[in-house]
Amino acid sequence: MKTEEAAPDLTVILRKWARKRGNLIMILHELQNHHGYVARSIALTLARELNVPLARIYEVLTFYNYFKLKPPGRHVTSVCMGTACYLKGAGDVFGELSQRLKVEDGQTTEDGEYHLQTVRCLGCCGLAPVVMINGRIHSKVQPRDVSRILEQTVPLTTE
Ligand code: FES
Repeated sequence: MKTEEAAPDLTVILRKWARKRGNLIMILHELQNHHGYVARSIALTLARELNVPLARIYEVLTFYNYFKLKPPGRHVTSVCMGTACYLKGAGDVFGELSQRLKVEDGQTTEDGEYHLQTVRCLGCCGLAPVVMINGRIHSKVQPRDVSRILEQTVPLTTE
């Protein structure tokens, strides 16, 4: 079976980390950063190339929340649950997003458009509560703002 189209990237990453100690987690980090997840085909290739049991790779992948095993939705939607945001109602904002998108924390909508997740402090506490979609910060978000924010991200078509 052919590995994913990202094989050249994997080759470069493997070459970069080949002789370094603790290289498995560093390689997995690079793959996660680059693709947004670590595909099974990539894990199989890694197991072969590093001569590491596949079970060991999945041990690492499933231990850390950071790693994803499936592609994320097109629009990564992060609700900050840090202290400042939480105290200013981030829980209600998350609840509204969750209800509208019909997904829970860490899930992707059925159409693959949105990946909803909670995060800890995005570093702009003065703008709390904060929602970040595809790297864009939405500040002082209230539950009533959620539909407008979603509409700005994926406009409804009238066709
Ligand atoms: S607590 Fe949300 S940005 Fe800091």
